[in-house]
Amino acid sequence: EDSKVGVRGLIESGVTKIPRMFHSGKLDANETQATAYDSNVPIVDIRDIKSSTTFRAKVIENIRRACHEWGIFQVINHEIPVSILDGMIDGIRLFHEQDAKVRKEFYCRDLVKKKVLYHSSVRANTNQAANWRDTLTMLVAPHPPKPEEIPEICRDIVIEFSRKIMELGFTIFELLSEALGLNPSYLKELDCAEGLYILGHYYPPCPEPELTMGATKHTDSTFMTLILQDQHGGLQFLHQNQWVNVLPVHGAIIVNIGDLLQLITNDKFISIYHRVLSKKTGPRISIASFFVNAQDPVEGTPKVYGPIKELLSEENPAIYRKATIKEFLAKYFAKSLNGSSQLGSF
Ligand code: SIN
Ligand code: FE2
Repeated sequence: EDSKVGVRGLIESGVTKIPRMFHSGKLDANETQATAYDSNVPIVDIRDIKSSTTFRAKVIENIRRACHEWGIFQVINHEIPVSILDGMIDGIRLFHEQDAKVRKEFYCRDLVKKKVLYHSSVRANTNQAANWRDTLTMLVAPHPPKPEEIPEICRDIVIEFSRKIMELGFTIFELLSEALGLNPSYLKELDCAEGLYILGHYYPPCPEPELTMGATKHTDSTFMTLILQDQHGGLQFLHQNQWVNVLPVHGAIIVNIGDLLQLITNDKFISIYHRVLSKKTGPRISIASFFVNAQDPVEGTPKVYGPIKELLSEENPAIYRKATIKEFLAKYFAKSLNGSSQLGSF
């Protein structure tokens, strides 16, 4: 009984009915219905962005359109070797499938105290259904954990993957800056990629998938999230009021625009709702890399973010007001209680 850890622990104990806390309930009833269509999320090949200026200009135009119309796209032929991506998915799987006793050492509900922790879904209030997934969360920048703080079973690959995904993040922030008509280093200089959380999600097979979600409908509070998913599928996003499946592409990285980027681009880029279905099959593994500002300093003046002034004009006045990250996140979590868009009142 007390060696049960996480949702994976429920599966290990052989449950065939999922506990009530996972039931999505009436409010989310249509969340669990898998009415979605397959569509082509824009796929952007970035192989030659450094060697050809005409190629780069085309890529930037494609990215500009994708960020404005979809809020999501996939990049292929980036510089992260497929062996590192596959190795990271394996490493995260191994972590979640090791003995419950070992997992338990990392189990913690306090997201603030530790740089590396293992947890199930964090609910903003008790009326919210829990998600059918477990997560290994690691804060790797600006100050990485000591190697010995990272679970041994995935330590080397996590360190290697972190470095590579950080570099890819910088490359994409350059392309996004250019897609906004700004200097390539613009977003980096706003510290959009100063902090990095890596979340290793594990979605166990679910005996009653019609009753619960892998991840409830939400937008990300980040500047940008890079997602690596395995071949199982289940990730969907809302496009023109319809759920769309993000079909797995081996070796691709999904770029998801977060709320903070929508805010500072004054809606030139959009942050979209997405969710993950639970399934009878699995497990599904995904790795979400959250690019954020480093936390507000305890002393000194906290950084304030608002629409970028170069993007504003008489015809395009600021839609959002300026806010510190702290104010922004307080709004984000308050709004997530009723599932409405967090940017509405900014
Ligand atoms: C999430 O956005 O919460 C998870 C994305 C994924 O697992 O693909
Ligand atoms: Fe998300």
